Amino acid sequence: MSFKLSMLRCGQHIARRTTGVRRNWQLYQSQIRMLATAAEKPRVSNSSGHLEFSYHNASGPANLKRTSLSCVHQDTAQRNFNTFDIPEDTQPSRIEANDEGVKVQWSGDAHESFYPWDFLDFYLKSDKRVPEPVEVEYFGARGPQTSQGRPPSLAYGDFSTNETETVGRLTDHIRRNGFAFITEVPVDSAEPTEKLLEKIAFIRETHYGGFYDFIPDLALADTAYTNIALGAHTDTTYFTDPAGLQAFHLLSHTDKSSENGSGANLGGQSLLVDGFYAASVLQKEDPKAFEVLSRVKLPWHASGNKGITISPDKPYPVLEIDESTGKLHRVRWNNDDRGVVPFSGEHSPEEWYKAARKWNEILRRESVEYWFQLKPGNLLVFDNWRVLHGRSAFTGVRRICGGYINRDDFISRWRNTNYPRDEILKRIIG
Ligand SMILES: [Fe+2]
Repeated sequence: MSFKLSMLRCGQHIARRTTGVRRNWQLYQSQIRMLATAAEKPRVSNSSGHLEFSYHNASGPANLKRTSLSCVHQDTAQRNFNTFDIPEDTQPSRIEANDEGVKVQWSGDAHESFYPWDFLDFYLKSDKRVPEPVEVEYFGARGPQTSQGRPPSLAYGDFSTNETETVGRLTDHIRRNGFAFITEVPVDSAEPTEKLLEKIAFIRETHYGGFYDFIPDLALADTAYTNIALGAHTDTTYFTDPAGLQAFHLLSHTDKSSENGSGANLGGQSLLVDGFYAASVLQKEDPKAFEVLSRVKLPWHASGNKGITISPDKPYPVLEIDESTGKLHRVRWNNDDRGVVPFSGEHSPEEWYKAARKWNEILRRESVEYWFQLKPGNLLVFDNWRVLHGRSAFTGVRRICGGYINRDDFISRWRNTNYPRDEILKRIIG
């Protein structure tokens, strides 16, 4: 069953437990999980100003006390009144259960709330909503392997046939596999590439500009604007919120001095490394090194352009762990943009360098590096929080266009092209 937002005066309700009630919740949680195996709906009643849910076949009442209930606007999905205007002693004055859920009228202003059974059932069994599940598939030297035996690719034409479905597939590939190609993108100008990226989300502006279309002329003070080899790294390590996605499209690669001027054999192979896979190898081979890289917080910076000095809001480790799941959340790795390793802390600079050397050695393994040749017409989009990129040196002139997209906007687009709206709201709001 899903929330019927349009049918409800109060589409959803946020319930907070008081501190004193948390103990009760923990005490009863296992009991509630056991009871949940039955399809039986609990009886709901007013108990000392709180809603109480009880099951007739339980040895004692499984109760969950809730306070500070509020409602959200059905159009904006925002809470539609000031929570703190509700008197602390607000109590249910009337409770009415039916097949759909429970209607409660509250004391004071006689406000009515409706709680669908699936909402109540979820919070009687669980503490909080969890994000949509993602089955991350690591890749190594052969790249991600789809059923077609090649990395995930979508055709440019598919976006005009069914934009939402195709963006859904593209963003889902990136979430699972770390990157995807879009083939047959026009190369006469950079505009089709820009418009295509905007189908995911708006392109992020940085001190380098927004959507870029450049040849390596060192117009901006960064090694990306040269033709030298670049080791595997993530971009924008110096932002509090590093770029979520990055896209490259090689529009042309020519060399007038070569025999045919076509740009063949001019180098410039592209490199991708699955940072999550590399980190899993590190954790297995050298758990101490993994721990050091996940705990030592480093300064990062961008200072190459006059008048610009960017650094994150605070130091960040190379491997960021999500405290709620214990899983690797984000890789931040660009040795060129790293500041001084801190001298004080639980791990010494010597320990950090030892761990980083091991990490660097894994990133350079043949089994981990995925090399390929970018070709005009093939747009690459990858997850910059997970996948490191690099390239070999090249000769001739390359024209590359691309851009960054914010992580939050990417995830929002992925959600809204892969899940029904009511399912998303349920997970995000509660
Ligand atoms: Fe880069």
